[in-house]
Amino acid sequence: MHKKRIFSGVQPTGNLHLGNYLGAIQNFVNLQNKFECIYCVVDLHAITNRQNPKELKSNTLETIASFIASGLNVEKNIIFNQASVSAHSELAWIFNCVARIGWMNRMTQFKEKAGKNKENASVGLLVYPNLMAADILIYKATHVPVGEDQKQHLELTRDIAKKFNNDFNCQDFFPIVEPLISNEMARVMSLRDGKKKMSKSEDSDFSRINLKDGKDLIDQKIRKAKTDNDPIPEQLSGLKNRYEAANLISIYASINNIEVSKVLDEFGGKNFSTFKSKLSESVVEKICPIGNEITKLLKDKSYLNGILEKGAKKAELIAKNNLKEIYNIVGLTKYI
Ligand code: TYM
Repeated sequence: MHKKRIFSGVQPTGNLHLGNYLGAIQNFVNLQNKFECIYCVVDLHAITNRQNPKELKSNTLETIASFIASGLNVEKNIIFNQASVSAHSELAWIFNCVARIGWMNRMTQFKEKAGKNKENASVGLLVYPNLMAADILIYKATHVPVGEDQKQHLELTRDIAKKFNNDFNCQDFFPIVEPLISNEMARVMSLRDGKKKMSKSEDSDFSRINLKDGKDLIDQKIRKAKTDNDPIPEQLSGLKNRYEAANLISIYASINNIEVSKVLDEFGGKNFSTFKSKLSESVVEKICPIGNEITKLLKDKSYLNGILEKGAKKAELIAKNNLKEIYNIVGLTKYI
């Protein structure tokens, strides 16, 4: 039996958006009062795509600031950046040797990110899920809060753990992790296309709401969000195949912490313009204080760097101990 421990990571690749917040970070905050939690800014994952080094450094601090502004307690949780704890990379190498090439080739995120020119993608992008498995398993974490797009990677993490435990005859050494995926906000969709997930890499900034967007911009983005011509339905069944409508209504429900059916009770039969202004109000009320706090925190870089340093020391302590055991199991000699 493994002690319940939460691990999750977020890439420092620019502005975090409402999808990151509702799909993952909000869950991080809810879990912090009940469990031991480790939250990581995964800068090594970010470089699987080319990054501007200066921007990467400042994005790392901005991601930490976003964690804190969203309500993560820096005393209670271990908050740090991946590159500071080298055991992640060391275990990732071992997992490169455990996982099979066929497993990597099946990853839909690799196919999406590599696009048509697969031969030209970085090797890092292909083995990205092995590093992700290492992030989690170096702490023997048992539960991982993520959005739905990460589910396949967590299934792979389970496969790697099982294969390692089997290959090295050490049953139950690595836990078989459980994903924690919120029901309604598992996939927050683009404001421009209800079939595509809201994403940092989408060209149009009007497809997403960033945590640092101000009131006017949020109002404008929601006003322009794609909908259809029918009024809001009164029954859940009326949302079938209405992807954009379903997305906006789910966002409203999640932000106000109510069921989707309650939203339909309130707005069923009305047109979208009334609903959109209420949605704007709710998003502004939730997101703007977070954005303001991010801006404030970013003025004190030494405070943020201090948190990273403290977090890295705590993380390193756990990771180093586990890595020692892992090296021993694999038969690797480490003198220092
Ligand atoms: P990343 O940085 O792309 O996203 C961070 C978190 O936000 C969630 N998310 C969404 N949820 C709902 N709707 C959306 N539109 C949406 N967009 C993003 C993601 O699912 C994620 O939970 N590979 C990971 C980072 C990672 C990791 C880990 C996560 C590295 N190591 C170990 C968990 C455990 C990623 O790229 O997330």
